[in-house]
Amino acid sequence: MTEHWTPASWRKKPAKHLPTDYPDPAALAGVEQTLRGMPPLVFAGEARRLKSLLGDVAAGKAFLLQGGDCAESFKEFHADNIRDTFRLILQMAVVLTFAGGKPVVKVGRMAGQFAKPRSAPTETIDGVELPSYRGDIINGMDFNAASRVPDPQRLLQAYGQSASTLNLLRAFAGGGYADLYNIHRWTLGFVADSPQGAKYRELSEKISEALTFMAAIGVTPESQPDLHRVEFFTSHEALLLGFEEAMTRVDSTSGEWYDTSAHLVWIGERTRDLAGAHVEYFRGIRNPIGVKCGPTMEPDDLLRLMEALNPKDEPGRLTLYGRFGHDKIEARLPRLLDATKRSGRTVVWAIDPMHGNTLTANNGYKTRPFDRILSEVKSFVEVCKAHGVHPGGVHLEMTGQNVTECLGGARALTEGDLADRYHTHCDPRLNGEQALELAFLVAEKLKEERIDAALRAAV
Ligand code: TRP
Ligand code: MN
Repeated sequence: MTEHWTPASWRKKPAKHLPTDYPDPAALAGVEQTLRGMPPLVFAGEARRLKSLLGDVAAGKAFLLQGGDCAESFKEFHADNIRDTFRLILQMAVVLTFAGGKPVVKVGRMAGQFAKPRSAPTETIDGVELPSYRGDIINGMDFNAASRVPDPQRLLQAYGQSASTLNLLRAFAGGGYADLYNIHRWTLGFVADSPQGAKYRELSEKISEALTFMAAIGVTPESQPDLHRVEFFTSHEALLLGFEEAMTRVDSTSGEWYDTSAHLVWIGERTRDLAGAHVEYFRGIRNPIGVKCGPTMEPDDLLRLMEALNPKDEPGRLTLYGRFGHDKIEARLPRLLDATKRSGRTVVWAIDPMHGNTLTANNGYKTRPFDRILSEVKSFVEVCKAHGVHPGGVHLEMTGQNVTECLGGARALTEGDLADRYHTHCDPRLNGEQALELAFLVAEKLKEERIDAALRAAV
């Protein structure tokens, strides 16, 4: 671990979930070389800004909201999709900010979430066995041999799509769309006439009143430009290290290395081996980073990862995402919380209630029951509270589209409904209504936390 780090030093370590079957490795190397010459997608100063905001989260002064597709795809690349997910995040952020009385750090699982680790290297349908689909940055989803061959040109397409997505997100975040005075306009069509839609309208009335009051006493978008814009950050699982390496640049202001493909990148549950290629790559970049923590993680594993990835204990550097499953969180999380507390180190603890709650429905669809997702979030907040740890955030797979991928929610989607609009390229996502419902439930929990803190302060 103390060996010299370079953006390429991961290549000497054992790597999991990276494709090794590019037919023409020289073509891949050529594409990586081209990427090295492309402009960075984010600026190091922005990544540092996110790190500092996450430092606030670690200190219990803010909350992290992170969400987007399980896997972005080339086919579903439309301005409407980007806008719909963005406005869903705005709505959820409003709900959470209002309830928690703390700023919400907004991070999209967007503009780069293209590579997927898969549980099996091959997939068999009707007796035909083909390499698994690994995400659009690697190969194609169609079930035929040609489409499953890794194609280096896909790295360039993913870069281009990330750049345009980020461009639109920046425009939305700073160009007036996210203006708090637009709060009524963010409701997605299909959510408007749901119970969540009604609840949201009620809340936005209250906020509009508060804005009118504030304007009357002189707090206007002119005096307070933050009313008019949001800071919005991007993130993805940095799985395909050849791509990330090519995007890794020295920041001219600090002389340090940053992965300029996104503000925050995380290590997946399947690639967090201490001696593996992913941990090696991550230890050298200065971005805020995340680690997914699943049910097999032991406290010692976590302590060693923290030492490797954040030896100087920099606040905001490391976010841990529990992803245990609704039935395992209460057995697994407390030991990890104790370990991080005992170490005295600063981390953000967040919950990914999606990945531990996946099952296959009787009709073959991969799905997630909404009540299990909620139950894991609730357990997370309660276990954190019992351990005196700030429940720092949620990481969700969700979309602004009206999909039918997760069971349950206020409209009680059933197994029979899944076939209607099942569009995901990988895991099932919450639709706009389910995501908003979840935000309201988390909001209740944050409100309790806020009231408890106020009561403690009063005695
Ligand atoms: N900039 C502030 C914030 O991000 C206020 C704000 C403006 C806001 N537009 C928003 C908050 C949309 C939530 C959603 O907190
Ligand atoms: Mn997923």
